[in-house]
Amino acid sequence: MDAEKFPVNPAGSALKGVRGQVLTFKADPFLISKEDDSYDYWKDGLVVIQDGQIIAVGDYSDVAPAYPQLKDIDTYEDSVIMPGFIDDHVHYVQSPMIGSFGDTLLNWLNQYTFPTESKFRDKAFADEVARIFFRQILQQGTTTANVFSTTFAESVDALFEESERYNARTITGKVLQDRNLPDSLRDPDTEQSIVIAEELMRKWHHRGRQLYAVIPRFAPTSTNEQLTLAGQLFQQHKDEGVYMHTHLDEAYSELAWVNSLFPDAQSYTEVYQRFGLVDRMSVFAHCCLVRDDEWHILHDNDCGVAHCPSSNLFLGDGEFKFWEAKNPRRPCRVGVGTDVGGGTNFSIPRQLNEAYKVAMLQMKSLDAKRSFYLATRGAAEVLHLENTIGSLKPGYEADIAVLDLKPTEFLEWRMQFADDIFTKLFILQTLAVDNMNKATYVAGKKVYDRSRDKQFMYADEFTA
Ligand code: GUN
Ligand code: ZN
Repeated sequence: MDAEKFPVNPAGSALKGVRGQVLTFKADPFLISKEDDSYDYWKDGLVVIQDGQIIAVGDYSDVAPAYPQLKDIDTYEDSVIMPGFIDDHVHYVQSPMIGSFGDTLLNWLNQYTFPTESKFRDKAFADEVARIFFRQILQQGTTTANVFSTTFAESVDALFEESERYNARTITGKVLQDRNLPDSLRDPDTEQSIVIAEELMRKWHHRGRQLYAVIPRFAPTSTNEQLTLAGQLFQQHKDEGVYMHTHLDEAYSELAWVNSLFPDAQSYTEVYQRFGLVDRMSVFAHCCLVRDDEWHILHDNDCGVAHCPSSNLFLGDGEFKFWEAKNPRRPCRVGVGTDVGGGTNFSIPRQLNEAYKVAMLQMKSLDAKRSFYLATRGAAEVLHLENTIGSLKPGYEADIAVLDLKPTEFLEWRMQFADDIFTKLFILQTLAVDNMNKATYVAGKKVYDRSRDKQFMYADEFTA
């Protein structure tokens, strides 16, 4: 296909190029009739960046002559240049307790999660965890995350402040939770919890690249009053791009609890719906046990769904059914989430490995074309940001990952037996290791470089 090009802004920053194999999705391979029309791949591609945005992408021989002033090009051999990964559901506040042994969801929350999250009223602790969290995700090539903070405003400020230092597009908000939790974590005053959420929203929503979410943890940990007020806040601001983010239909024990708390409800999804929490900016994590009537509600309301396979396996939850979520009669927006600390690592390609296995347990197979779509453009669709991030296209924000196709001695040897790009990516996701991303660009700046002395750099550390 022809390269797409934008004109150079003569008053803008110097051009930056990223050259190598380039892969990007432009449509949903689950739904498109000719699935090879869902992506663009250039064996020797070039991405041209100015002022944090992509201005051209295509074949090197086609794009490069149009930009004679482009001198600064990073060239990557044996790599795939892709849109930065998007983590549609992750708890940065659970980084200190990832990998905690031996329990299913509700016990695990009580035993490990709630005590850990209680520590985030301490801003210095929150700052330290936010710093570690960003280094982890950027190292894996994740450039946007849809994040649970916790009860305390300090936990929200810490994450947004660190995100701002990298100029990353991040979504978070105060977690609303006023029942069935230890006092150390519970919102002591329901009305006040909404006041604090609204203040944080006014402070952070659309400040730079930051976006705000209204986050009731899940139905069992909010009173009806808090769910009502959360729904009102969300409804008032959803048209400004404010999200609603929560958990839905993850585990059998959770579902039984919801049924006992809301005995007259038609379904778990309908519980959220009655409080105004189901709408086009709603993102629901897990959705393993969603029934047909609930998929219809999620489809009709244009909601997003975050599949979190490593967490579902680790906590022994239900099994996500991608073919239900992508049923052409009522398809939903679907992406992937690490769900750290239920998830066991920060890597999106490693989630794809687990997603494949969750599907295989149910006798379905998920190929690399579909899984890397879920990790990039699909995940952007969940956030209704598919015109901003998740693809490499002129006008899009220049968030980029550079996957190493030969990250280990064995993989280097194994790749000689693979030909096309998706065969290679499937092998890579299946044998995924933590250090297989070479570089991460956020708004055009290489904030992570595996081979640089100073691997991580904040946006303001770059000279013009
Ligand atoms: N449901 C409610 N809270 C949580 C949480 O912190 N992690 C997971 N995996 N599920 C939840
Ligand atoms: Zn979660």
